[in-house]
Amino acid sequence: MTSLQRPVSVTTLAAMKRRGERITCLTAYDASLARVMTEAGVEVILVGDSLGMVVQGHETTLPVTLDEMIYHSRCVARGVAQAVGRKPLLLVDLPFMSYASVEHALHSAARLMKEGGAQMVKLEGGAAQVAVVQALTAQGIPVCAHLGLTPQSVHKLGGYKVQGRETEAAEAMLRDAQALQQAGADVLILECIPSGLAARMREALEIPVIGIGAGVDCDGQVLVITDVLGLSAQPPRFALDYAQIYGAPRQAIAAFIDDVRGGRFPQAAQCFS
Ligand code: KIV
Repeated sequence: MTSLQRPVSVTTLAAMKRRGERITCLTAYDASLARVMTEAGVEVILVGDSLGMVVQGHETTLPVTLDEMIYHSRCVARGVAQAVGRKPLLLVDLPFMSYASVEHALHSAARLMKEGGAQMVKLEGGAAQVAVVQALTAQGIPVCAHLGLTPQSVHKLGGYKVQGRETEAAEAMLRDAQALQQAGADVLILECIPSGLAARMREALEIPVIGIGAGVDCDGQVLVITDVLGLSAQPPRFALDYAQIYGAPRQAIAAFIDDVRGGRFPQAAQCFS
């Protein structure tokens, strides 16, 4: 098996960061799009709890259950298995309140992996999640942390707003990121923060930093697939409707991957200062 065909793993992502190669990530919730993304060569597929909004039609991600995450993760895992080509890493969100204690987090993550086929789990939050991240990684479970705009805290944040604009908040986010890395997190997703702050965090951290609305100076980019395919009612400013420019899903997904790898996405119109 050549290294090109070897499935993407945490070590692949770490090596890409060291080599300065950008990581591509898209959300998927079903087998068909997961197959198309896999064949287009994406490195990471995220079964995001954004499915609560874009698949189920809720106003927030909060109603999504662990059983629903497992169901969609299984669908995506089947699509990946059917696809020809290198297998992306399957990252799955721990839904709201499924990791509020160490015991609960271990139980939820085990179900995502055993029943859903997850290869890495994602959780939102900073220093408060250190004990959970330590416990998961001690059991050999890869973890992706998520800072900045954390949609599971939308009511506490007072809406979907750019985070980390004030100096104190920016410094706190940097400290949180370092604590999560120290606790064993393998990847960090930064959502909706000023581009300059994301660039600082990428520089300060050894683990790959994947941005969404966090500027071009990240180790990779992730977008929600319905935004890429022009299916969202109110697409966020940081997204780009690739389908409008490139037409069919295969071409739109391939163009997103190509633009991220070439450092052409995001551009100023999709960034915050
Ligand atoms: O749920 C999701 O799709 C996410 C991305 C926005 C990163 O967490």
